[in-house]
Amino acid sequence: MQRKILVTSALPYANGSIHLGHLVEYIQTDIWVRFQKMRGHECHYVCADDAHGTPIMLRAQNEGITPEELIASVKQEHQADFADFAINFDNFHSTHSPENQALASQIYLANREAGHIATRTISQAYDPEKEMFLPDRFIKGECPKCGAADQYGDNCEACGATYDPTELKNPVSAVSGATPITKDSEHYFFKLGDFEQTLKQWTQGGHIQTEVSHKLNEWFESGLKDWDISRDAPYFGFEIPDAPNKFFYVWLDAPIGYLASFKNYCERSGVDFDEFMKPDSTTEMVHFIGKDIIYFHALFWPAMLQGAGFRLPNSIYAHGFLTVDGKKMSKSRGTFIKARTYLDHLDPEYLRYYFAAKLSSGIDDIDLNLEDFQSRINSDLVGKVVNIASRCAGFISKRFDGKLSNSLSEQALFDDFIAQADTIADKMENREFGHAMRDIMALADKANQYIDEMKPWALAKEEDKDQQVHDICTIGINLFRVLVAYLKPVLPRTSEQAEAFLNIDSLQWSDISTPLLNHSINKFKPLMTRIESDKIQAITNASKETMTTEQKSEKQVNSNIDPISPEISFDDFAKIDLRIAKIVNAEHVEGADKLLQLTLDIGSGEKQVFAGIKSAYSPEDLLGKLTVMVANLAPRKMRFGLSEGMVLAAGPGGKELFILNPDDGAQPGMRVK
Ligand code: MSP
Ligand code: ZN
Repeated sequence: MQRKILVTSALPYANGSIHLGHLVEYIQTDIWVRFQKMRGHECHYVCADDAHGTPIMLRAQNEGITPEELIASVKQEHQADFADFAINFDNFHSTHSPENQALASQIYLANREAGHIATRTISQAYDPEKEMFLPDRFIKGECPKCGAADQYGDNCEACGATYDPTELKNPVSAVSGATPITKDSEHYFFKLGDFEQTLKQWTQGGHIQTEVSHKLNEWFESGLKDWDISRDAPYFGFEIPDAPNKFFYVWLDAPIGYLASFKNYCERSGVDFDEFMKPDSTTEMVHFIGKDIIYFHALFWPAMLQGAGFRLPNSIYAHGFLTVDGKKMSKSRGTFIKARTYLDHLDPEYLRYYFAAKLSSGIDDIDLNLEDFQSRINSDLVGKVVNIASRCAGFISKRFDGKLSNSLSEQALFDDFIAQADTIADKMENREFGHAMRDIMALADKANQYIDEMKPWALAKEEDKDQQVHDICTIGINLFRVLVAYLKPVLPRTSEQAEAFLNIDSLQWSDISTPLLNHSINKFKPLMTRIESDKIQAITNASKETMTTEQKSEKQVNSNIDPISPEISFDDFAKIDLRIAKIVNAEHVEGADKLLQLTLDIGSGEKQVFAGIKSAYSPEDLLGKLTVMVANLAPRKMRFGLSEGMVLAAGPGGKELFILNPDDGAQPGMRVK
């Protein structure tokens, strides 16, 4: 029976490049989808960029472009990477799309109607300078346990402690360097607890892996908490209906992005969206994800769908994380490898095969061992599979005019090969790709043994052995063809070249059992070459290089040496009134870690300014010094009093912060031009 299947991979964030870790997932999904299509099922594979959220908003600001410009350029980059790895999406869309806005509102409003949305006021860290609430990862400070400096959010990289970001000592906003304050605002919550029964039933209904359901049981035991789905402006996302200045949290509209991409595709292709989405649909909906995002997919997502009257997913398939040479991918070791860096040096089919050989249906991490990778490709693909064709093809084209013989002389051997079609199909269906690859390579060994024993090259030198040589090579080519069919979901490009060599139409699973007889094939061209060690070295070297430039820019952000800001006009500049100021008084501020209170003489009078320069100066060092201040800045009420301007200082921060210190006859009140 023909199945109708909607398949998704998790949506990559639109603020970074695709790397080999991501590719575990896209390759796994793509293999599964190609397999389904080859089996004759109707299968639609959709994905999109996950374009919303604070990091994307801030990165765009740092680069001096709009978030729309940023996500458009990242989308192009992602799509090129995916296309080059032969990831064959039927549609690749964006969560920042009209379809997604409409569906997010629809799903939210349906849940609100049904009483699943609550509001309440919460307090959060707020950056008074940047005027925005700060997600945990944008607050840094000293670890409350060990005192290590520069720790982000809620855990310490030095001692491993976890804590609440409010416990950080001397916290600063990673965005502006200001000391965060605590501020209240009203938030919208999704009442996950309303769905406890549905979710318990659903999670026991065979839709998730057993390892995952154990994890879910723990979550059920600790209770399903309300989920905060709103964020305050400024935020790059969709405004919540009837809630001005409140935006959907990125994870609310991200999974809805699956449906938005599918909808966009349906409108183009004529596939019936509603048939797939109605509650009693007989179609299948399958999500491939990494194990880090199970909570969102196995709890929030089915609950949101249920609350909105849509069907629930049939399956959530989680996979483990990629390690390289047994360790977490690392920028300094050169193992944090971007998709593009790999593509610059090696054939993507190698990596597809290697991942397939390593993948199972479980959630264990998978390791890319670079040495093993090289030897596996060289021995399995080049040494075994391709070798079969290259050993037989020459005789067929030179001696038999490119034509295979009329019958199979070794029917039993061929039958052995096709007898595995069902077991291999089962393994592919159940995502036991590693087992399937092992079965396929065992068959390749068998084919090579057969040729070794028959020695067509020796027979070819004898007289009257033509028929035998013809038969042996015909068997060899037919065995090769079966292997190509089995490997086709994994090696789409090599298979295509093999189909051209075999002079056949695109192989379907149902073609496997029919041998090629009395059939003309084309001249053989090498389908794959060995991996040389220098290629792998080149990839890790290039990864080290790309990362040093990237680390530099990361560092710039962390130390607040921002890239040059967007251009301003001369008129903008002329509005700023810079004056020479004499520091006539400087004092510590009770309760402030960073600030000094300065009294500045600017000729026409005195101004009071709170300056964040305590880490670099004691008050007595400043007395009598001249500096430059912005004299016409609107006064700002701070926790400690009114600040009536700003003094100009330079440097990365801490001890290295220098107030501008003019001399040579500058006088208080002089305009700085
Ligand atoms: N944007 C979210 C997903 C939203 S889905 C509605 C996200 N994006 S991501 O770019 O961080 O990750 C995309 C997918 O790649 C996730 O499934 C994630 O688990 C997977 N991987 C990211 N790094 C990975 C490895 N190092 N190894 C294996 N998979 C990894 O999460
Ligand atoms: Zn610590």
